[in-house]
Amino acid sequence: MNGETACEGQLQIMADIIVTTREGNTITLAAQPGLSVMEIIRDGGIDELLALCGGCCSCATCHVHVGPDFAAALPPASADELDLLDSSDHKTAASRLSCQIAFTAALDGLKVTIAPED
Ligand code: FES
Repeated sequence: MNGETACEGQLQIMADIIVTTREGNTITLAAQPGLSVMEIIRDGGIDELLALCGGCCSCATCHVHVGPDFAAALPPASADELDLLDSSDHKTAASRLSCQIAFTAALDGLKVTIAPED
């Protein structure tokens, strides 16, 4: 659900992402534009997304599969991101590193599934 609220003179965009865990549980998380999708998932308490490098694009433990409705809305993956994804046994056409996806209001409702652990 997309909406806007005024907070002490600042406009805040309210948006959500929908995360499916490895066990198949679906969790909706409030998403703040400006954070990465990895940060939103981690801050939402889903600890199976290890994100060991903290978002430096060097570990691939933040691997997710993005829902097909949003694939075209995402910025293209960098060469470094693609190299890391190539090292995963679970890479698909929908694979992205969630630390490399900057969340924006345009991604409200983004669906991601946490990839199996390598
Ligand atoms: S958190 Fe390490 S590559 Fe994303």
